[in-house]
Amino acid sequence: MAVGGGLNFMVIIVIASTLQIASRSLAGAGDMVADTCARCSRSNPNVNYTLCVASLSEYPESRVADLHGLALISAKPLLSGLATIASVAKDLRDKTPPVSPARSCLDACMEMFRDAEYDLGSAVAAIEEWRYGDAKTSMSATMDAPVTCEDEFQEQDMAPPPAIKAQSKPLFQQGVISLAIISLL
Ligand SMILES: *[C@@H]1O[C@H](CO)[C@@H](O)[C@H](O)[C@H]1NC(C)=O
Repeated sequence: MAVGGGLNFMVIIVIASTLQIASRSLAGAGDMVADTCARCSRSNPNVNYTLCVASLSEYPESRVADLHGLALISAKPLLSGLATIASVAKDLRDKTPPVSPARSCLDACMEMFRDAEYDLGSAVAAIEEWRYGDAKTSMSATMDAPVTCEDEFQEQDMAPPPAIKAQSKPLFQQGVISLAIISLL
């Protein structure tokens, strides 16, 4: 009886300390996203801390990721943002009369977004291969695309379509976050 009680006690100690280790490593992982975003917003005031934490936390793998992993994860919202803005540009283009200045701007934008998707792929490949200088160059090119698209309209004295502008700012903000994380590597 006394031996049984001792064993039970041991089992409880082992379970308790296992749980403690598990909860400590979970808390530690959660802090990694918050810590990284805090470091990013300190090094670059344009980094939106709230958006940084929210967008990285959306991916469950961020809970166990190191800085290198977080840099890769930070590219994901850009990939979906680019797909969205590219499809917005295509929809607008298909509704715009052919051989019009707006149509040629939208054609140019579609090409820019295609290039940006390619640049983003290069940025991810560069992160995976620890070529962080190249990653920064490609990421900068990626996030320039929506700005360059808007410039295309402004150069022709036209206002950029609101649907494009609505997608362009969040995409740029995600790019700022990703670039800041890569810069910490
Ligand atoms: C930062 O991001 C949050 C969440 O997306 C947003 O609500 C807030 O307006 C953003 N702040 C700035 C200054 O853009």
